[in-house]
Amino acid sequence: MDIEAALEEISRAPNLDSLQSLKVQYLGKNGQVTQAMKTLGQLPPEERKEKGRVLNAWKQALEEALEVREAQLKEQALQARLEQEALDVSLPGYAFPSGGLHITSRIVLELVNIFRRLGFSVVEGPEVESEFFNFDALNMPEWHPARDMQDTFWVELNRATEEAFTIQGPFAEDVSGLGGAVLRTHTSGMQIRYMIQHTPPFKIVVPGRVFRYEQTDASHEAMFHQLEGLVVGPNITMADLKGAISELARGLFGKEGKARFQPTFFPFVEPGVQFAMWWPERQKWLELGGAGMVHPYLFKAVDDYRERQGLPRVYEGMTGWAFGMGVERLALLRYGIPDIRYFYQNRLSFLRQFRG
Ligand code: DAH
Repeated sequence: MDIEAALEEISRAPNLDSLQSLKVQYLGKNGQVTQAMKTLGQLPPEERKEKGRVLNAWKQALEEALEVREAQLKEQALQARLEQEALDVSLPGYAFPSGGLHITSRIVLELVNIFRRLGFSVVEGPEVESEFFNFDALNMPEWHPARDMQDTFWVELNRATEEAFTIQGPFAEDVSGLGGAVLRTHTSGMQIRYMIQHTPPFKIVVPGRVFRYEQTDASHEAMFHQLEGLVVGPNITMADLKGAISELARGLFGKEGKARFQPTFFPFVEPGVQFAMWWPERQKWLELGGAGMVHPYLFKAVDDYRERQGLPRVYEGMTGWAFGMGVERLALLRYGIPDIRYFYQNRLSFLRQFRG
């Protein structure tokens, strides 16, 4: 056996497995050194001594070489593993998909925040509304064209729908005279609801979903959103209304934003206007909604209702203004969205453009 070659082979063993077979080959039970040692007994004594010494030296040398190589191979394996598992903290992390606010929610928040800064309270009302709040008390009697079957979703009246539009609290008892149930066609009904339950002065805005029974197309959806505003107090004037809408224009379009009024008719205001806002960037007027001075009919209807409930009349001598505007309409114009139906088709490629 060539001990030099054996030691060389061990020092070059490429991995722990081959090292293990070399160990078996030389030092195992049937290994070359082990076998040679077993034959020592048959040798004459002086030869046995010499050969024994040599074999022991080989054995020791082999054991040492095996140990050294094993340590080297283990160290190499460790280094390789460390390299492979190294964590590069400068790499970008995994992108976790995150949700975001819908474009409608963003516009609602933007609008509402402008009014919050002006001291308005934000309130919301039910989407199932009574005929009385949605129409009658707003000076829209039964023959009014807006009540046409074409425009209104009527809802079957049952306990749940009745509860949805019944005013809770001290007014809960009486739903007689509130008429049938509808999906509210505008947020203006909240003007009446709020006035019934509160004593002026106050200023509120009401964001919310509204529903119209119509053929949908690029500019019509059966469901959309409005923002309603109402201010009532002892000396509220049309100038206050102009001031507030102008402030809204500046809030939306910067300090060069401004408002324009043109006379028009709504049953619940007198005088009534449609308003537009100047968009300085594009040098154009955007028709955004309707407004006006609260029609005295509304104050009377509210006080009459309160009186029926045993509450004091508090709207005599009051004046107020109101406005209503379309939320999607503002988004359509501002972003040049060609079709209102995109808003609620849940197409991410559309919605993601407005994540902000
Ligand atoms: N409710 C009206 C609509 O849906 C909008 C509106 C016009 C609201 C004039 C108002 C107002 O408060 O004063 O078309």
